[in-house]
Amino acid sequence: VPGARFYDWIYRIGAPWDTGPRGELVALIQDGTLDPKTHPKALDIGCGAGANTIHMAKAGFQTTGVDFSTKALKIAKRRAEAEGVDVTFVQADLTTPAPLAKDSHFDVLVDYGTLDDLKPEGRRRLAQHVKTWSRPGALLLFWCFYGRYEDLPRISLIGPSKLGPGLEPEEPQALFGDAFEIRRLDTPGHRGRWACFLMTRR
Ligand SMILES: C[S@@+](CC[C@H](N)C(=O)[O-])C[C@H]1O[C@@H](n2cnc3c(N)ncnc32)[C@H](O)[C@@H]1O
Repeated sequence: VPGARFYDWIYRIGAPWDTGPRGELVALIQDGTLDPKTHPKALDIGCGAGANTIHMAKAGFQTTGVDFSTKALKIAKRRAEAEGVDVTFVQADLTTPAPLAKDSHFDVLVDYGTLDDLKPEGRRRLAQHVKTWSRPGALLLFWCFYGRYEDLPRISLIGPSKLGPGLEPEEPQALFGDAFEIRRLDTPGHRGRWACFLMTRR
């Protein structure tokens, strides 16, 4: 469970995952599944250097990005300015009791690789926040490291490992199943060790 200072350091040297807006997000906006006309308010959970946040803003969503890394947010703000898009960035620890203003609500919530970084208690807390931040019909695009702990390698630079495990196969359902209909997307995966879900708030 890396802390904010570890992330500051990674973003300073260049985060390996910071490669532009992610494929599933781009595709779902392109095919109209995620549509700012019906789902105007978007939240990027653990937005990092802002590639997905800025992509959503450019597509017409009123977008908020939240992250606890000062360096990541600095890069994200600079990029948003350079692109001329209006994005709200919030610095907060997502595992705290109230990372966002009370009564915050979003229609599209995106998490690429943030909840899966957290310890079980942090995961439960963030999942709970996601439920309070979403109303019926809201969509959650959730991408995570994935796999059974016993099957993971000891160390991996691009996927989950015993050192940095992802979600257990039953965990998305356990965390979100009481409030969301869950559909697993057919994404190109790293030996099945990445997974992406599109969830609809009941
Ligand atoms: C693997 S990165 C992914 C970043 C971004 N979603 C992307 O796809 O480029 C995980 C991000 O979550 C942020 N993060 C991790 N734990 C957090 C926490 N407890 N509160 C807020 N942000 C957190 C990190 O700073 C980092 O930017």
